[in-house]
Amino acid sequence: MGEKKALVTDLEKTVADRLSRERWQHTLGTAVTARRLAPSLRADPRKAWVAGLVHDLARDLPSAELLSLARRFGILVGAMEREAPELLHGPVGAELARRELGIDDLEVLDAVARHTVGGPDLSPLALTLYLADFVEPGRRFPGAEEVRRQADRDPELAVLWAMERTIVYLFRFGLPSHPLTVEGRNWLLRKLREEGRWQPWEGGARGAECDHGIS
Ligand SMILES: [Fe+2]
Ligand SMILES: [Fe+2]
Repeated sequence: MGEKKALVTDLEKTVADRLSRERWQHTLGTAVTARRLAPSLRADPRKAWVAGLVHDLARDLPSAELLSLARRFGILVGAMEREAPELLHGPVGAELARRELGIDDLEVLDAVARHTVGGPDLSPLALTLYLADFVEPGRRFPGAEEVRRQADRDPELAVLWAMERTIVYLFRFGLPSHPLTVEGRNWLLRKLREEGRWQPWEGGARGAECDHGIS
């Protein structure tokens, strides 16, 4: 156990050295929140901590570098990614975590790869990371508080609301939604409706005032 703790501490230091101070604050908030939310989504808290730590490893890379790394790593670059290369920071970051930090847990790498646009059939760990990234204590944009409160009641419903907020935000600013975000929303909406757990998003149009389109 002592050895495991030392490894995690090494990982924290390695990641902290690679990120700006603001990005590290957000990263730590996401990792702590992911570890806390994990049990309620039936995810492993230790994996959630690691996923939170590495999720934004590639977030500050320039667009040209994200595009060139994606091509080198064989990551699919579609029309959406060409228009907004920062969407690639999830899959590129996952590959950097694997190659440079030695993270080999496939569930962790998948959660990191999918944390930006989401998608259908997310694993418990991917749901945990997506939600933690949205509600970590540093997030202050409109809509965050409703999702944060819902995260402690029904975390899957909170993920649905987070995806809807993202779609509404992009709609309001005349921007296209990633097809995977829409598919993810449809997937969760059907699941929650079938299980009688669906409720409309409390944030409504206010969530669209958010100044943060890509997390
Ligand atoms: Fe991110
Ligand atoms: Fe993030």
